[in-house]
Amino acid sequence: MRRFVYCKVVLTTSLVWVLVDVFLLLYFSECNKCDERKDRSLLPALRAVISRSHEGPGEMGKAVNVPKDDQEKMKELFKINQFNLMASDIIALNRSLPDVRLDGCKTKLYPDDLPNTSIVIVFHNEAWSTLLRTVHSVINRSPRHLLMEVVLVDDASERDFLQKKLENYVRTLEVPVRILRMEQRSGLIRARLRGAAATKGQVITFLDAHCECTVGWLEPLLARIKEDRTSVVCPIIDVISDETFEYMAGSDMTYGGFNWKLNFRWYPVPQREMDRRKGDRTLPVRTPTMAGGLFSIDKTYFEEIGSYDPGMDIWGGENLEMSFRICSARLIGNCNMFARGPRFRKATPTFPRNGPVSQEHSAWLKSGG
Ligand SMILES: *[C@@H]1O[C@H](CO)[C@@H](O)[C@H](O)[C@H]1NC(C)=O
Ligand SMILES: *[C@@H]1O[C@H](CO)[C@@H](O)[C@H](O)[C@H]1NC(C)=O
Repeated sequence: MRRFVYCKVVLTTSLVWVLVDVFLLLYFSECNKCDERKDRSLLPALRAVISRSHEGPGEMGKAVNVPKDDQEKMKELFKINQFNLMASDIIALNRSLPDVRLDGCKTKLYPDDLPNTSIVIVFHNEAWSTLLRTVHSVINRSPRHLLMEVVLVDDASERDFLQKKLENYVRTLEVPVRILRMEQRSGLIRARLRGAAATKGQVITFLDAHCECTVGWLEPLLARIKEDRTSVVCPIIDVISDETFEYMAGSDMTYGGFNWKLNFRWYPVPQREMDRRKGDRTLPVRTPTMAGGLFSIDKTYFEEIGSYDPGMDIWGGENLEMSFRICSARLIGNCNMFARGPRFRKATPTFPRNGPVSQEHSAWLKSGG
């Protein structure tokens, strides 16, 4: 009887060791570098062990909830940028995000010789954590050979940490990051023009200062431009909550349009676009207008169409302006996901010298611009 118990103990220990060996082998051999294979070959319980680095606040795009004791301070900080600055500052600058792309997009192959791009980001008194999370996500999730540089254009920020401290920080990054300073507050469009003029890449990609790029965001944008250099490509824009910084997948079933007040709006993609793509949602959608904030455009084509109108003062006006200038295909690259946040700001940022929106636009339209 005693002998039997003894056997059982020996057998169980060996079994445990065999399992540990199998686990170590799987983890350290073929599956070290390839996330996908790792996912398929390991049990979910083991996967949890491996993704320990995804456990910090806000990792995998999860919501951050500030403890009750800090709520008062949180509300104070909220006013500075109109988003939950406290939550943003808790989250790692290189936080992980889920891959919410369609399955067909994850396996798509792109040519090796895509054009490279310069990233242009304009900021004005942006928070440290949101601005640098944007920069880190661009660097971490773009293939190095496709990323020429990041050009940050400071539209006369007053905050101290955006001066020398920022310059010193970006010098440590593995991709060239340049900072251009506007002498005086000039507005988004003039700042972007300054940034665009300084770029050296073949394609210019404009981003907001509080974005997070997800895995595989860049290749589809550049692939469309390689196919046709007159394509202007917008990513799908997801949402980051301004309260909790939770990442929420956007819809690939809406596209840009405008109402009779010439305000940019999202509308459902019509049936004719579904039919044209024969139901394949990984193909790009043609859209009548684009969200002017985030897009990629061939640099020489941008210059040919006359870039932006430097007289554009009003927030959001650039959406329609660019759309009308581009007479050929405007596409939404459907295989990329992209997070822009925090969305739904309660106060819309304004620029000096504001004027009535519709008046300026209608004048511009009448002149046949
Ligand atoms: C972010 O960077 C830190 C420090 O360099 C590193 O330990 C961590 O694993 C990184 N997180 C992700 C999600 O890459
Ligand atoms: C990007 O393209 C430009 C222009 O063709 C080239 O000069 C530059 O070396 C390229 N940069 C990278 C990082 O490949």
